Amino acid sequence: MAKKEKNFDRKDLKIPVSLGVIMDGNGRWAKKRHLPRTAGHRAGGESLRELCRNCGNYGVKYVTVYAFSTENWSRPADEVGQLMKLFVEYFNKYDAELEKEGVRVRFSGDMSELPEEVRNTAREAEEKSKDRDRLQLIIAINYGGRREIVNAARHIAEKCVSGEIKPEDITEHMMSDNMYLPDVPDPDLIIRPSGELRISNFLLWECAYSELWVSECLWPDFGYEELTAAFEAYTARDRRFGGLSAGETE
Ligand code: FPP
Repeated sequence: MAKKEKNFDRKDLKIPVSLGVIMDGNGRWAKKRHLPRTAGHRAGGESLRELCRNCGNYGVKYVTVYAFSTENWSRPADEVGQLMKLFVEYFNKYDAELEKEGVRVRFSGDMSELPEEVRNTAREAEEKSKDRDRLQLIIAINYGGRREIVNAARHIAEKCVSGEIKPEDITEHMMSDNMYLPDVPDPDLIIRPSGELRISNFLLWECAYSELWVSECLWPDFGYEELTAAFEAYTARDRRFGGLSAGETE
């Protein structure tokens, strides 16, 4: 099948302001090619570069990608070590490209448990890119949705204990304000490649009203065509947020 000509100016498409992506399928991609899993993660990194370019061109403002979950530590030490190396290498190698694309880089997750080199790289990438404003790329690393909620609950509980607030003052808004990056809008759309029908502890609080789109394509093969297909599906969705469709009264 001929590749579609890229067109980022489609007036018929509704573009999500905030997008979440579960970058799944790197291992399967590598296995199909008799390559080590790490080769799949490297190829996944290339897909992430393309995702940034495509999201910037489409006008997405925030993209949060799931790079390493709080559960991923249970993988073989060699795979975890290679992934950590890849994170460090990536932000050093591609900073000039991210700058050209106007990408501000941020991290979400429990950074305290990561190797020092990764923490330093993350801090530097955030610092260097803080004034870029075309697209925010949020890397969820050592991220777990449940842990994020527990963390928020602890902060709020501390305020209750100190007498700053009363339990009845706690609202959904306050919970949202205590998530890792409260200024990042909840994802309008979450994309999960490689066919699994699970949320896998990703943005549990923030995904309450996110649209979900699943594709069979493995993450390293995910490009413009799949992203466009996701936006086409998103455009056709009727987002009611628990209410009725626009104009519907009964
Ligand atoms: C899940 O696929 C993917 C990961 C645990 C790692 C994601 C990391 C990257 C895409 C590398 C680039 C990222 C950055 C931030 C530089 P899997 O290994 O579980 O795939 P499988 O389900 O097919 O085994």
